[in-house]
Amino acid sequence: MGVPHQEILTAAAMRSLGARMGKVATPGDVVGLVGPLGIGKTTFVQGVAVGLGVPRTSYVNSPTFPLIQEYRGGRLVLFHADLYRIHSMDDLESTGFRDILSGGGLVVIEWLDQLAHAAPPDTLTVTIEPMPKQSHGHGTGTARRIRVKATGQRSKELARRWRKQQQPS
Ligand SMILES: Nc1ncnc2c1ncn2[C@@H]1O[C@H](COP(=O)(O)OP(=O)(O)O)[C@@H](O)[C@H]1O
Ligand SMILES: [Mg+2]
Repeated sequence: MGVPHQEILTAAAMRSLGARMGKVATPGDVVGLVGPLGIGKTTFVQGVAVGLGVPRTSYVNSPTFPLIQEYRGGRLVLFHADLYRIHSMDDLESTGFRDILSGGGLVVIEWLDQLAHAAPPDTLTVTIEPMPKQSHGHGTGTARRIRVKATGQRSKELARRWRKQQQPS
């Protein structure tokens, strides 16, 4: 459920999509971002920070986990993890990753598909894919397609609020 096959044509639109998630997220929500290098996962997270109201100056590395960035000063703390270079659960567990899942903030994890067991059972997974060029008229190669999967009550509710936030009022 969620926002199936939504088309995102520009980086600005991707940031806006993220910002809308930042506006509706609640403490403890976990979002996974899946998609190839350069597809727009970090761009989405930048939008989430904006939506949470994080000041631009508060992007800091976590003291406990260099692969996690904490964005403070917004409505919720945003924990941004990137599992690109993490290849085993042992690597993950030794770094304190579990702590951010119970940190009362919003957790956004890039490359969550790389370590499927890292995800808590109730996670909203956002998959970003390139749009096949023939299916749209732009021909610029910048269009993305978004798929959303919720695996529990919490993530379903996040998806619902996020979708509502995207409808013009
Ligand atoms: N529709 C789009 N959505 C997201 N990013 C886009 C889009 N079109 C172009 N871009 C550009 O693609 C790049 C995505 O980089 P990034 O967000 O770091 O990707 P990732 O974190 O998935 O590796 C940025 O330079 C961004 O400006
Ligand atoms: Mg990235």
